[in-house]
Amino acid sequence: MAAGGLPVPERDNRAMLHVGLTFNKKPESGEAQDLPDDFFAEFDTDDTILAIGRALESMGNRVTLIEADEEAYGKLRRLRPDIVFNFAEGIRGESRESHVPAFCEMLGIPYHGSGPLTLGIGLNKARSKETLIVHGVPTPRSVVLSGPVSDIPLRFPLIVKPIAEGSSKGIRNDSLVRDIDALNAQVRLVLSDYGQAAIAEEFMPGDEFTVGVLGNEEPIVLPIIKKNFGELPPEANPIDSFEAKWVWDTPEKPLNMIACEPLPKALAREIRHVVIATYRAFDCKDWARIDLRLDAEGRVNVLEINPIPGLLPKLEENSCLPRAGHEAGLSYAELVNAPLYYALIRHDLLHKAEQKAYARLGEKLEAVRRAVPTFNTPQGRRQLEELRAIETPRTSRKAGAA
Ligand SMILES: Nc1ncnc2c1ncn2[C@@H]1O[C@H](COP(=O)(O)OP(=O)(O)O)[C@@H](O)[C@H]1O
Ligand SMILES: [Mg+2]
Repeated sequence: MAAGGLPVPERDNRAMLHVGLTFNKKPESGEAQDLPDDFFAEFDTDDTILAIGRALESMGNRVTLIEADEEAYGKLRRLRPDIVFNFAEGIRGESRESHVPAFCEMLGIPYHGSGPLTLGIGLNKARSKETLIVHGVPTPRSVVLSGPVSDIPLRFPLIVKPIAEGSSKGIRNDSLVRDIDALNAQVRLVLSDYGQAAIAEEFMPGDEFTVGVLGNEEPIVLPIIKKNFGELPPEANPIDSFEAKWVWDTPEKPLNMIACEPLPKALAREIRHVVIATYRAFDCKDWARIDLRLDAEGRVNVLEINPIPGLLPKLEENSCLPRAGHEAGLSYAELVNAPLYYALIRHDLLHKAEQKAYARLGEKLEAVRRAVPTFNTPQGRRQLEELRAIETPRTSRKAGAA
């Protein structure tokens, strides 16, 4: 694996598919003083980045690591990989996740995963909810707040989150509020610590799920992952807060935070239906992970989409997409290469990749698709037709958008 600025390896590997792996890595400790302790929560460790790189190499690709820093555009321009595996969260700005795909589009370099528009909307929870609402996908009622209020047209309890963060950044155990004073305190905290508006959302008291999706025309819905909040300390609220993800669940004292258990058939079907509708509403490409929660009536609501899902390599780290892949019988390397495989098909580049390895992967993914009952029943096929029908572009937001 060659690093961005280093010379390419010596052997003649021009015939291999050259994959540029774009990423943002967590700074060494000590570099991040005076910032909230979750400031770099979205960025990845060397371990994760190298594991992804090795997984891509294991399929016969030549991989160049490209740190998506301020030099990223120049590196991409100089290196011109055949395709970019985009894992970069972006260093700053409200469109940070869109930067690498936008650079690639400008340079004419194919990239894997969703485009700048999907990533831009996906990072903003208010814009995301508008997209969901227009497409008829249930999502908790919410209000965007840029200062304290004396009243709010929502039903308490509420959860207060920064409008444009991920990885539970700015979502603490105290983000679940039961009155106006607590709400205002949380809004002030979001404004001061994260320099952005807050979104207050009605709290969904039911179970939480997260669901990985792979592919494009007829995407594969991976096994449904359920969050296990019973593992948290008794004083904890049942939410995937910063504390739940990074403080209470540690390698030394691991919590069994995610499970993959058989769900009632009707619930599983509704989840898959909502997931596919969401994937299509956002025009996701190749892969994504969607967070959901049940309301008081047990209906499935979408909290948010993750068009660049986490990929921690060790199963015990409770990384949801790798776990879902594992449940479906995919190794970490197969899971990482799956979205790349779909991107290669989209860009008509599959012929450049190691034929045998990707043919094997393609067969395996087909087997996974067949095992998931999403579209195999007459009802499933009907749902798919319905979903295709709602794919028609809509420009009006008047259908109840926030
Ligand atoms: N409306 C809600 N009802 C219940 N829990 C919520 C709600 N919104 C967020 N949460 C909790 O907070 C966690 C993080 O919120 P999410 O919207 O997924 O943001 P992030 O981008 O940080 O993952 C969720 O996994 C869930 O546990
Ligand atoms: Mg989430």
